[in-house]
Amino acid sequence: MKKYLLLFFIGALVSAQNKTLDQKVDSVLALMTLDEKVGQLVQYSAGWDTGTRTRKPKEGHEELIKRGQIGSFLNIVGAEQTKRLQRIAVEESRLGIPLIFGLDVIHGYKTTFPIPLAEACSWNPELVELSARMQAIETSAAGVHWTFSPMVDIARDPRWGRIMEGSGEDPYLGSVMAAARVKGYQGKNLSDINSILACAKHFAGYGAVEGGKDYNTVDISERTLREIHLPPFKAAVEAGVGSLMSAFNEIGGVPSSANKLLLTQILRNEWNSDAFVLTDWNTIGEFLVHGIAHDLKEAAKIAIEASVDMDMESNGYHYHLAELVKEGKVDVKYIDNAVRRILKAKFKLGLFDDPYKYCNPQREAEVTLNEELRKAAKQVALESVVLLKNENNLLPLDKNIKSIALIGELAASKDDPLGPWSQQGTPETVVSILEGLKNKVGDRIKINYAEGCKVRGNDKSGFAEAVEAVKKSDVAIVVIGETRDMSGEAHSRATLDLPGVQEELIKEIDKTGKPVIAILMNGRPLTINWVSENIPAIIESWYLGCEHGNAVADILFGDFVPSGKLTVTFPKGVGQIPLYYNHKNTGRPYNPENPRFTSYYIDFSLEPLYPFGYGLSYTTFEYSNLKLKTDKVNASDTLRFSVDVANTGKYEAQEIVQVYVRDLVGSVTRPVKELKDFKKINLKPGETKTVEFELPVERLKFFDINMNYVLEPGKFKLMVGPNSKDLMETEFELIQ
Ligand code: BGC
Repeated sequence: MKKYLLLFFIGALVSAQNKTLDQKVDSVLALMTLDEKVGQLVQYSAGWDTGTRTRKPKEGHEELIKRGQIGSFLNIVGAEQTKRLQRIAVEESRLGIPLIFGLDVIHGYKTTFPIPLAEACSWNPELVELSARMQAIETSAAGVHWTFSPMVDIARDPRWGRIMEGSGEDPYLGSVMAAARVKGYQGKNLSDINSILACAKHFAGYGAVEGGKDYNTVDISERTLREIHLPPFKAAVEAGVGSLMSAFNEIGGVPSSANKLLLTQILRNEWNSDAFVLTDWNTIGEFLVHGIAHDLKEAAKIAIEASVDMDMESNGYHYHLAELVKEGKVDVKYIDNAVRRILKAKFKLGLFDDPYKYCNPQREAEVTLNEELRKAAKQVALESVVLLKNENNLLPLDKNIKSIALIGELAASKDDPLGPWSQQGTPETVVSILEGLKNKVGDRIKINYAEGCKVRGNDKSGFAEAVEAVKKSDVAIVVIGETRDMSGEAHSRATLDLPGVQEELIKEIDKTGKPVIAILMNGRPLTINWVSENIPAIIESWYLGCEHGNAVADILFGDFVPSGKLTVTFPKGVGQIPLYYNHKNTGRPYNPENPRFTSYYIDFSLEPLYPFGYGLSYTTFEYSNLKLKTDKVNASDTLRFSVDVANTGKYEAQEIVQVYVRDLVGSVTRPVKELKDFKKINLKPGETKTVEFELPVERLKFFDINMNYVLEPGKFKLMVGPNSKDLMETEFELIQ
């Protein structure tokens, strides 16, 4: 068939109103040669490398697009740039199938939002959805159809640098956040001009790498996989996620892109998902390094048969899939199914109707970094901050003070607030803490800034200047933590102490006797024990993105009352790791009265520095009156209960009311508590609200001794409170 005839034919079948999506996909599939089918399964980077160097095909990208041998690119941005490649695909390849462009928009495209771990600390799914929506608007205007986000890996090990990319340690909260992000990116309709395809990653178990060392081995039970690591993926699938990314790690000897249990049994058969699966960077090539394939050809066969649809950068599919089919070694049905899933996504995005819909430079110019985006970034930043300590109500600062000493390399940094995995955000777009304070106080309050020391290194020559600055000021604010390149991918740490001489610096500053406030800027929990014991006020600000400084300034002066709560436990020492709130009881839980032969350390505390769910406010809250509507429920019920929360302080503020459950006896052991619900409420000073909950009993399901997902009758403890430690409790019973 002549090319123009074919294009006409595709156009006709695509616009055919009466065809179902499956029929449309099948009619395109019917026109494709084997090589063209394989082409749809191939993705290359069109720009920078976000992984180890791979062997690229000798033909250039343009030549491969013309031959229909590429279906997708990553790492290309801009309406003009994407249009150039799209034009070649649509006008110069035989079938004119549009390309799909993917990118790591993890917390913003050019307008940088808080890192995902920080956003999760808002416990505000509507806000997190808004953040993803705004990111989608800006990303789609830059010609990009697809983000490799949300990262929904549950992480119980703060040494792992990528803990900053997820929502923390809890499967329920992680699921709520996963769904919120998918909804935000994909919008109401994927074919809307400002919706982008989401990608739940890294499927699966990547957060459980041994020792917190990136890319390391994972060896967890199927129960832990299903109960802890998979729920956020399932939630993403239920929210309609368009794609998933298979992870680097093995689980129990099987690398994720070869894992039939995950990719075929669970994703396809149990969850009934037709989202397409993309590998992480070169994971098919890495089968050779893992040692499960002799060569790339064997690796390609393993991956396609496990239900991996798109190959990011390994070349395994490009070089070997067609050959494997021709030799009768791979059934073409695997390839057809993969092509179907990818074409479906392209149809849903509306790319067959208008392949250039995202390539409008005028829209790009109007949308990028606009006011609305910045406003949203600030709103999200404010709710992401966690107040860890506030002795004697040192905060908020009195607006009538005369001078502030602001100390620390991070305090003036316009780069670090971008955090790891920032996309096109640049330092010029960032308001540093120094700038944020100046914006807030103008000439009314003198700000004496001194670096003191760098985050890394041993140089203390700046200490004297910092101490002088503090001596001539009413209050000292010291910004400490990690530079942004100390967490994120391939940035695991074996220690969690403050790097360099920062702790020594803050000790010197404390000696001046001035009131000291510590602001943390970091991508993971840190073992800040000395700071926690000695510095009266501590704010966890994470990396808040472009509005970091403005948000922190609002919080320091009480223009916004902090409301965030930790979604990950802060340990006191690395020897305690893994330390997470929803652990099992063991047969010999720690007994402080008689510790011998119980589960503890002879040389270290068992307590976290800050527990999961913890965070303070400028006001105080009192919980009372935990009341069950009925203490017996059956499988189809909802458990109804309420608790009174009173604002007993001076500020109007938000509180996150948390609900935990313990299944007292099961066919297998159950965690000592599991988060099952939460509500974020607003209270005026003196106000009391009765907070009502309706917990679907369904949520008490777990995998029983035979790995069936069931409800088991019996008694449960219900716990409600402001964090995972300070809880009121009562009991209820699930009856047959
Ligand atoms: C990361 C992924 C990312 C991919 C593409 C990999 O190194 O693990 O999370 O999406 O690169 O940039």
